[in-house]
Amino acid sequence: MVVYSPHKVILFGEHAVVYGYPALSATVDLFAKIYLIPSRSGLQYTPFVQRTLSFLGLNNVYVKVETNVPSGSGLGTSSMIISGILLNEKDYQKEALANEAFRIEYETQGLGSPIDTTTISAGGFVLTNGKVGVPLWKIERNGISWNFSTIPTRNLEMVIVYSGSKGSTREQVAKVKKFYERGSFAKDIMKRIGNITEEGVRAVMKSDVAKIGELMIENHSELKIFGISTDPIEKIVSIGREYGYGSKLTGAGGGGAVIIIPRDKEKLMKKLKELNVIVFDTSTTGAGIFKRSE
Ligand code: PMV
Repeated sequence: MVVYSPHKVILFGEHAVVYGYPALSATVDLFAKIYLIPSRSGLQYTPFVQRTLSFLGLNNVYVKVETNVPSGSGLGTSSMIISGILLNEKDYQKEALANEAFRIEYETQGLGSPIDTTTISAGGFVLTNGKVGVPLWKIERNGISWNFSTIPTRNLEMVIVYSGSKGSTREQVAKVKKFYERGSFAKDIMKRIGNITEEGVRAVMKSDVAKIGELMIENHSELKIFGISTDPIEKIVSIGREYGYGSKLTGAGGGGAVIIIPRDKEKLMKKLKELNVIVFDTSTTGAGIFKRSE
């Protein structure tokens, strides 16, 4: 058995989504293959893998993950792996899988939103706490609820660039939380991000790449105020602005990846090559996680 688990990007609204504001995410055409292979000795894994295996009562198993995408890139690796292990072992309806994977991720990290696990499970464009789309399901935790819907629209061409260093979701979410608890300043930023997301959803529904790009630039500027961008991210984002319709960091930040909506693809790729970074020339996909026997 092999599970194909898609990476995801957040187009708009990361961090704000933790506080219940809307966000738009999507699976991309980059899949990790996840295998569970019987092994003689109990291997040691990172806490979220360990917790998933304990939940399933699995001891002597080797979790093999095949992907070209570095972990800590803000592309949903931990959620993908948790979901991939669960689906290898059991049959799940999409909603049940999203819930179970989120519970395990939340219990390990102690914070965060169910946006990653839901996107990976549902596939396609997923809107969190928005007013449009086809309703999916709702997840609640600690008084915050997230309502999900799917946005049926055309896939979007996207260049994803790894900034060269890992970002820790836990650290970055905690950093933003400090700002958030300090006063209205961070809440105003979150509100603005929420508005950008709502406008972004309308642009995505119309496949208006110029508008999507413009709003990504605005969203990035707001995120930057929290100090979660880095010099390499800024370098990539500025190339993305010059040769794409727009670009921004995606996910928690502090490292990780940048997404670019390409305009002049040839020049964009040439410029990125000069930076010597890992680049994925891809697009969003309608597919979510699935399994197949090999
Ligand atoms: O970096 P990732 O893929 O774990 O995404 C984090 C998105 C945040 O909004 C920053 C946190 C969350 O759990 O929603």
